[in-house]
Amino acid sequence: MHQKPTEQNPPKTFRAVVFGKTGSGKSFLVKNRIIPALERFIIYDPQDEYDGQAQGADNIREAHKIFTSFGQVRIVSEYDEYFPVICQFAWEIENVCFIVDELDIFCNAMSSPTELKRIIRQGRKRGISFIGISRRHTEIPKDITSQASNIITFRQHEPRDLKYLVEITGINPDEISGLPDYEFINYDFSLGKTLKNTVKFP
Ligand SMILES: Nc1ncnc2c1ncn2[C@@H]1O[C@H](COP(=O)(O)OP(=O)(O)OP(=O)(O)O)[C@@H](O)[C@H]1O
Ligand SMILES: [Mg+2]
Repeated sequence: MHQKPTEQNPPKTFRAVVFGKTGSGKSFLVKNRIIPALERFIIYDPQDEYDGQAQGADNIREAHKIFTSFGQVRIVSEYDEYFPVICQFAWEIENVCFIVDELDIFCNAMSSPTELKRIIRQGRKRGISFIGISRRHTEIPKDITSQASNIITFRQHEPRDLKYLVEITGINPDEISGLPDYEFINYDFSLGKTLKNTVKFP
């Protein structure tokens, strides 16, 4: 039986990061297998790739209107200075999954906007889940991967990338470098195990 979410008992959330080189299937996975299972989501789609997933908006006022009606919205904007405003929007909405494709446009290895950090660190208490997509872990700050509940990776060859993934998950590097096209590993920290080609979030 579901318990009613309260501040002491927030709804179950997750924080997933998706890695893999260009064309490996990251956006395809999120679009076709993850989003269809979500009820309430905000997707930041800087490259306008998620057409048909949710009604699109190019500003917050419009996004608010669409989200209020449908519980789902796709925000299309390539202006990186707008990103903190969108993070703030997700923070205020609560009980929602916030998805950011091309996360490395808005962060680098050393820093990310405060508004995003707050979602990663404290979003759980507001029922906010997060999915971030980036090609390599070196393009996003460690505080995002260190708070991840799931690390999803497509095939990787680069020794530095493999070393990092092996260090944090304990997966055999050959499993990652030997993945066939479009196949992925989902390391679930709460289960402490590796799921192959499976995504299942609370
Ligand atoms: N599971 C799949 N089955 C069949 N085709 C796929 C699958 N995943 C991806 N593709 C094909 O590969 C193409 C590239 O996938 P996708 O756009 O998801 O790559 P990406 O990892 O997001 O790349 P980028 O980093 O450049 O954004 C898709 O347009 C689709 O044609
Ligand atoms: Mg993509």
